[in-house]
Amino acid sequence: MNIEGKLLEAAWQARENAYAPYSNFKVGAALLTTDGLIFGGCNVENISYGLTNCAERVAIGAAVAAGAGPFAEVAVVADTTEPISPCGACRQVLAEFGVKSIILANRVSIIRFSLDELLPRASTGILDSTT
Ligand code: THU
Repeated sequence: MNIEGKLLEAAWQARENAYAPYSNFKVGAALLTTDGLIFGGCNVENISYGLTNCAERVAIGAAVAAGAGPFAEVAVVADTTEPISPCGACRQVLAEFGVKSIILANRVSIIRFSLDELLPRASTGILDSTT
């Protein structure tokens, strides 16, 4: 299996552990480092809905906590009619960690995007300050 296949498989596997009692919508993500390590993530919901963590950010957290990186790409999967699309917050977090290639999939199709397509003119915040 090629690396993209492995990444998708890891994302589907991570999705199995989703904690989604409120939405019943399970999401899996898998993050690939430039040296070939894979870190999975799933959505982790909370009764205080706004505290929910998306699968993408959980995968980033797992990788960062393990001291891993830099990152090559991320795969995100769910049982949807169209391949799932990351929320705005996750796009900004993917930008923070330089995840430039994004694979989105459902059970039947896979589409690929650059981060720039999903988050054009990503905020560079204080990095772009003139003072
Ligand atoms: N969710 C993700 O984990 N990733 C996405 O890209 C979209 C949404 C989660 C958050 C929440 O637990 C559930 O899906 C419903 O929005």
